[in-house]
Amino acid sequence: MVILDFGSQYSELIARRIRETQVYSEVLSYRTTAAQLRQLNPKGIILSGGPSSVYDSAAPHCDPEIWALGVPVLGVCYGMQLMVQQLGGGVERSELAEYGKASLMIDDPTDLLTNVEDGTTMWMSHGDSVTQLPEGFELLAHTANTACAAVAHHDRKLYGVQFHPEVVHSIGGLALIRNFVYHICQCEPTWTTDAFVEEAIREIRARVGNKRVLLALSGGVDSSTLAFLLYRAIGEQLTCMFIDQGFMRKLEPERLVKLFREQFHIPVAYVNARERFLAQIQGVTDPEVKRKRIGHEFIRVFEEESRRLGPFDYLAQGTLYPDVIESADTNVDPQTGERVAVKIKSHHNVGGLPKDLQFKLIEPLRKLFKDEVRKVGRSIGLPEEIVLRQPFPGPGLAIRILGEVTEDRLDILRDADLIVRQEINRAGLYNELWQAFAVLLPIRSVGVMGDQRTYAYPIVLRFVSSEDGMTADWSRVSYDLLETISNRIVNEVRGVNRVVYDITSKPPGTIEWE
Ligand code: XMP
Repeated sequence: MVILDFGSQYSELIARRIRETQVYSEVLSYRTTAAQLRQLNPKGIILSGGPSSVYDSAAPHCDPEIWALGVPVLGVCYGMQLMVQQLGGGVERSELAEYGKASLMIDDPTDLLTNVEDGTTMWMSHGDSVTQLPEGFELLAHTANTACAAVAHHDRKLYGVQFHPEVVHSIGGLALIRNFVYHICQCEPTWTTDAFVEEAIREIRARVGNKRVLLALSGGVDSSTLAFLLYRAIGEQLTCMFIDQGFMRKLEPERLVKLFREQFHIPVAYVNARERFLAQIQGVTDPEVKRKRIGHEFIRVFEEESRRLGPFDYLAQGTLYPDVIESADTNVDPQTGERVAVKIKSHHNVGGLPKDLQFKLIEPLRKLFKDEVRKVGRSIGLPEEIVLRQPFPGPGLAIRILGEVTEDRLDILRDADLIVRQEINRAGLYNELWQAFAVLLPIRSVGVMGDQRTYAYPIVLRFVSSEDGMTADWSRVSYDLLETISNRIVNEVRGVNRVVYDITSKPPGTIEWE
């Protein structure tokens, strides 16, 4: 199934919903031509919503040949309006914009709306409405404010819905999606974890042959899943390299290497580069400079070590599907219709290697969303401890110490962070929170302990809930938990005399402090 993206914040969500029906789906640019689509041979096409109005001169349009492909199409919100407009109907700004829940009154309970209950709740978000149906189209449903809430050209299998069936608040949304996927497009539910693993192993073997593959292991779920998958596919032709930058959490590097070597029996080359990394960022206070220096040093160490351990033909990367979509510039500027990618922080990876060290890339996870990676990890034996690990940034604790990073500050943060982890685990919150961690501020404040005046660092607790890290809310954990953590940190970590709780959502804050 192909989803053509017109800049909707929900395009990825549509792709997920389709995959939840065990059918493979991909998000492509609205500029994809009918000829390109013919080559891909999709069973169905979904046009996403979008921020534009179809009658704006700069509004994104799809190739009109798409209507003649003979492939079923479902237009959602903007996608429906575009379909109606391109096929000769009318779309106008509505008197009454409709945002939020609406009751769907069903006029034709067959086809797309089979098993969708009359009066079910669907989520609306639109300022424009369809005012005239194109020839051959029929009305399937309406709401109090929207005359054409669902429409169809039954013979040509063209469908449109004004609401968003993909969002969780649309109660009948999943039934509608299943009707489109299974009955209208005749897809089979074959996109399963086991099928993915088998296919990935087959592809890796065919591609790699008897060549050697290098993988930079970080200990996160992506690179760990990749290590398992590759090791299963090519065994000792895989070399996992773990670079210890010195910015990991307390005891994590040792634990990770031990786990891989002793429990999983996957060989790991451990590279202790702690001093080098610290030297690189000595005296650096600017967050972006810090990130860049760490990124560059990572590449240098990686380069040296891969020469030493190599030669390798392939480099395996844990690129995921959202990275692929993001790098394809999926954002559309509503004013100009142009696609824009906004850089907020430079996340480092192993790009930018010198010419004589150009590997061929192998990215077996590039079709997967994060939750799918977790399923794959689980199905090939990755323990829950790694499968459910909270995200941890590449530059690690170095970006959780604001300002200059020193050995002393790293020790303090590691100890505070360990207490956070222990207490969050004890409260049974580790899997509930997206991230829970400590940040060290490079300032000092006055306190009193015993009869002594103290002058020491504050620790910030950053606990957030999030679906995907793109937006986040601060977590409403109990005062008792905060008190326990605060007491323990101030009592057990030398150099800290104050603990504060960050109550900023994202946006406007970011999750990390640098
Ligand atoms: P922000 O701070 O941008 O973080 O709200 C969003 C998510 O991304 C993680 N993060 C990183 N992950 N390399 C990574 O692999 C990085 O440089 C990096 N910086 C932030 C962050 O922990 C959060 O989950």
